Amino acid sequence: MSKPPVITLDGPSATGKGTIASAVAQRLGYHLLDSGALYRVLALAARERNLDPRQGAAIAALAPDLTLEFGAGGQVWLNSKNVSTAIRMSKADEWASRIAALPEVREALLPWQRDFRREPGLVAEGRDMGAVVFADAEWKFFLTASAEIRAKRRHKQLIGKGLDARLPDLLRDLRARDLRDEQRSISPLRPASGAIEIDTSELSIDQVVDQVMGFIAAWRGG
Ligand code: C5P
Repeated sequence: MSKPPVITLDGPSATGKGTIASAVAQRLGYHLLDSGALYRVLALAARERNLDPRQGAAIAALAPDLTLEFGAGGQVWLNSKNVSTAIRMSKADEWASRIAALPEVREALLPWQRDFRREPGLVAEGRDMGAVVFADAEWKFFLTASAEIRAKRRHKQLIGKGLDARLPDLLRDLRARDLRDEQRSISPLRPASGAIEIDTSELSIDQVVDQVMGFIAAWRGG
């Protein structure tokens, strides 16, 4: 029996992946997986239990008992509590990327992520969607943008939410997180083989969505 189709969108943070993945999923009527949210939620649960971010086995053991719900506009509920803001704080960025380097954690999240693959199809965004989690995906994309542009985007986003943020701090944190994601020994951040790379630095969200949709339409047509 053939599996539902998957489109993967990977790349570093603040490349617009989340918004683009959501728009592509909406246009196609597909399900959406924000895999970063899973790492963020698990990191939050670990912090609430005062675990150390190096305790891989103990953190991984929390995964099966977490009940997650995703709503419109990136809303996330963990065990019926709205954690949408808590998982987007800068401390959560750091914790998520620290626990994401632990092999036990990545292993524990695999079935969770693959469970999102349902009819009529899935758009999955993250770091290793095309390389590891859905290596058999039909369409793979890798989005990039310069660190300066990504920090500016993040700054605008946080200020827009009324949160306090300084551009130099954001740039520093973003570079540190990129480095951690790229240098970890398990599933390091890099384009999956066969992925189409799109530099979003000079493009609007709509332009990237159009490009992605254009590639998919061309393949489908061909
Ligand atoms: O995408 P987002 O910024 O929400 O991801 C938070 C962190 O989770 C990333 O910095 C990365 O370390 C980790 N992550 C990952 N693999 C994924 C998604 C996220 O390692 N597929």
